Parts: sequence; structure tokens; C-alpha cells
Amino acid sequence: MRSSTLTNRVALVTGGASGIGLAIAQKLYQAGCHIAIADLDLSKADAALAEIPQREGQQKLALHVDMADYPTVYRMVEHCEQALGSLDILVNNAGFQHVAPIETFPPEVFQKLIDVMLVGPFVATQAVFARMKQRGWGRIINISSINGKIGAPYKAGYCSAKHGIIGLTRVTAAEAGDSGVTCNAICPGFVDTPLVQNQLADLSAGYKVPTEKVIEDVILPNVPQRRLIGADEIGDTAVFLASDEAAAITGQTINVSGGYVMS
Ligand SMILES: NC(=O)c1ccc[n+]([C@@H]2O[C@H](COP(=O)([O-])OP(=O)(O)OC[C@H]3O[C@@H](n4cnc5c(N)ncnc54)[C@H](O)[C@@H]3O)[C@@H](O)[C@H]2O)c1
Repeated sequence: MRSSTLTNRVALVTGGASGIGLAIAQKLYQAGCHIAIADLDLSKADAALAEIPQREGQQKLALHVDMADYPTVYRMVEHCEQALGSLDILVNNAGFQHVAPIETFPPEVFQKLIDVMLVGPFVATQAVFARMKQRGWGRIINISSINGKIGAPYKAGYCSAKHGIIGLTRVTAAEAGDSGVTCNAICPGFVDTPLVQNQLADLSAGYKVPTEKVIEDVILPNVPQRRLIGADEIGDTAVFLASDEAAAITGQTINVSGGYVMS
């Protein structure tokens, strides 16, 4: 559905070549935004954009970024603003998972998780913040997780980064003040994407259940709705947070988890 308040806004989604990021990019494009997908894998970003049917008058742009490599993050923002004329909606979504007990968790992987999912989003926010405030309108949407609110075994780096980005979200909202810029975090539960599918084998080892039973025996018993979340449901939440209707919502963490986490 095209939203009049989002028509011709420019949105940039990091990690937009797959899963949740791609669904958010698709939904924002359908709502009338020009869209930039930035990803570590530029060819995958190009391919993802090609799959989104072209709409008259709306632009699509694929960009390379490594969220752990800060100069590429600044360049991503500059390229987007130059090519599409603005950057009104920043979605910090790129991420990955590593599952291991604390005793064997490699410190360099812990650091990388923090770099990609906390420091990178901070740098992207820094790059867009002043101009968003000058323009008097902006949306920063950080993709945290229910693991930003609860500790999950074997996810030390991921949980630390996802808790951290909730703090960044609140500070960004506080500093945005009355500028017209809002910042919120979405906290998805388990969403059916490659990131979840790729961790099942490691969770199977940790919980000592067969890989094909992890979803049914480990994940779903904690979810009142007894289902995985669809990436499109996260996309719909992002579109709402980006809209003018959500102007008073800032500094919030929105769980989209089928009831897994309720606070
Ligand atoms: N899938 C879930 O259940 C779930 C739940 C809660 C939160 N999340 C969060 O949602 C976001 C997207 O996850 P997803 O499930 O869609 O995963 P995904 O693996 O489908 O997509 C992640 C994307 O991020 C990109 N990426 C990875 N490292 C990058 C880097 N250094 N720089 C730029 N791009 C990079 C990948 O190339 C990929 O396109 C992540 O932040 C993840 O932590 C996912």
C-alpha cells in the first residue's frame, strides 16, 4: 500500500540483500520510497533489487558496505545522498550470528559482532544525523532482537550487541529532541531467514536435540503463538515506524515476537 507520507522519501537499508532487510526494503518501496540496499555482498544486493518490480518514478540503488569497516559506512551514506538526493530513513539491519558457549567463544568473533551490529550502526547514525535534523524530518530504525532484552545461552556476542543497540536507540532519540527525527528499535523474535536456519546445527549441539527438532523443541515452546515470524511482518512494522503516523513514537523498542517477550 502506498503511504502518502512516505512518497518520495529516501530509505537506506543495511543488510538489505536478504531476509528481514530485504522485506523492509520491499515494503518501504511499495509504500512509495526510493530505496537503497547496502550489503557486504553487492551482487546479492543487485540481484535482490532486480526482483523488486520497478514502480514508475521510484528509484532503486544497490551499494556495497561492510558495517565493520567504518570508512565504507560513511561512503555508503554519501553515495546514497548523492545518488538519490537525500537520506530520510536509515534502517540499521545488517547482522550475523555466532553460537558458542562462553568458554570457547572466540574474542575476535565477539568483537566482530559488536562492530557490525553496534559500532557500524552508530557510525551510520553519526553520518546521517546532522542532515536529518537540518531537514527537520528523519527516521532511524535499528533492528535489535528479543536477544536485546533477554539473555540466550551461547549467544554472548549477539546478545551484547543487541542489548547495546537499544541503548544507542534511546540516546539517539534523546539527542534528536524536537528536531522531527525519531529513532526506534524493532525487536524481532525468531524470523524465518537464513540467519535462523544457519544456527540450527550449533543450537542442536548446545541443547543436545537433533537439528531438525530445534525449532519445534527449543524455539517454539517459548513462543505463545507457536510460530516463526515472517520477514514481511517486520517490514510492516518498519513502514509504520517510518510513517508520519508514528511521529510521537521515539526511543521505543517494539517486540515483534509472537509474544515471546512481553516487556
Ligand atoms: N532472523 C531472525 O530470527 C532475527 C531475529 C531478531 C533479529 N534479527 C536481526 O535482523 C537482522 C537481519 O537478519 P536476517 O535474519 O534477515 O539475516 P540474513 O542472514 O538473512 O541477512 C543478513 C544480511 O546482512 C548482510 N551482512 C552481514 N554482515 C554484514 C556486514 N558486515 N556489512 C554489511 N552487510 C552485512 C548479509 O550479507 C545479509 O544480506 C540482523 O541484524 C539480525 O540480527 C534477526
